[in-house]
Amino acid sequence: MALFHSCCLPTPSPPQLLSFRNSTSKYLLFTPAATPSRCRFPKLSAAVAVESPPASSADGVDSPKLLLEVRDLCAVITESRQPILKGVNLTIHEGEVHAVMGKNGSGKSTFAKVLVGHRDYEVTEGTVVFKGENLLDMAPEDRSLAGLFMSFQSPVEIPGVSNIDFLQMAYNARRRKLGEPELSPLEFYGYIAPKLESVNAKIEFLSRNVNEGFSGGEKKRNEILQLAVLGADLAILDEIDSGLDVDALRDVANAVNKLLTPTNSVLMITHYRRLLEFIKPTYIHIMDDGRIVKTGDISIAEVLEKGGYKALSAT
Ligand SMILES: Nc1ncnc2c1ncn2[C@@H]1O[C@H](COP(=O)(O)OP(=O)(O)OP(=O)(O)O)[C@@H](O)[C@H]1O
Ligand SMILES: [Mg+2]
Repeated sequence: MALFHSCCLPTPSPPQLLSFRNSTSKYLLFTPAATPSRCRFPKLSAAVAVESPPASSADGVDSPKLLLEVRDLCAVITESRQPILKGVNLTIHEGEVHAVMGKNGSGKSTFAKVLVGHRDYEVTEGTVVFKGENLLDMAPEDRSLAGLFMSFQSPVEIPGVSNIDFLQMAYNARRRKLGEPELSPLEFYGYIAPKLESVNAKIEFLSRNVNEGFSGGEKKRNEILQLAVLGADLAILDEIDSGLDVDALRDVANAVNKLLTPTNSVLMITHYRRLLEFIKPTYIHIMDDGRIVKTGDISIAEVLEKGGYKALSAT
């Protein structure tokens, strides 16, 4: 099984993780996601879904390519069978930045975790196509190797595994997948040094165990270091702004902006307009009770900040 990035690791609980050793270290792997079974929620017919507007092609220029297409996605908590996602629709094209906002408990993190194949959730309905492939048929580690990255709201700690070992292994797994030669430790150090600088992270980050003992803000910065090292066609950032002081927020946002190209995209979950001032979204979506119920531009965040969700439902 290929390595699965720490960014895609679930909150660790013994049944979800496998471990193995190479010559130097112990690594944790994600066990494959449960195979989705199909069933319908009675409420599905009532699902309200708003699609992102189609990419503009008014001047006859080719529209950007479709990157992710989520249709009527429903998911339950694997253990309790409690429905959380109740018909999510979302379309992301290359080069777009999408923000998802919504009240606490509305299903934002669940949506993100379902996209990366977290074992706590089972997809019961709907489709997800990523870069033309059926994402739901792919094991979590393959989703990651295919170019999906997720920074968790609560990044996981991996005791006993240094950041640099972890990143080198993850990066080399990506290179193997692309048919490129792996980097030696020395070559990898040369590759990672400027990345470290780009996120303004301390050199000690590399020798410390993944996220172990990191402050909340350091964990978030470390997540962005992982993104800078591994790259992604679609980076899903779940509350990357939480716990960051204003300088750290600027650093993290700058690093994300530097990674944005016309062919990759960001899906960021946030509660605050502050992040959206640094990383300008193409669209903002509002999630409510497991569905995207509204899509618009930055003005949504302005209404939200002034009058809360009550004000938004009145628009
Ligand atoms: N593994 C789980 N076990 C039990 N309940 C869960 C689990 N995952 C999600 N839930 C519940 O599903 C609902 C949606 O959770 P989720 O974390 O997706 O919300 P959210 O929109 O990200 O909220 P927040 O803004 O507070 O981060 C919540 O009521 C949460 O308690
Ligand atoms: Mg959340």
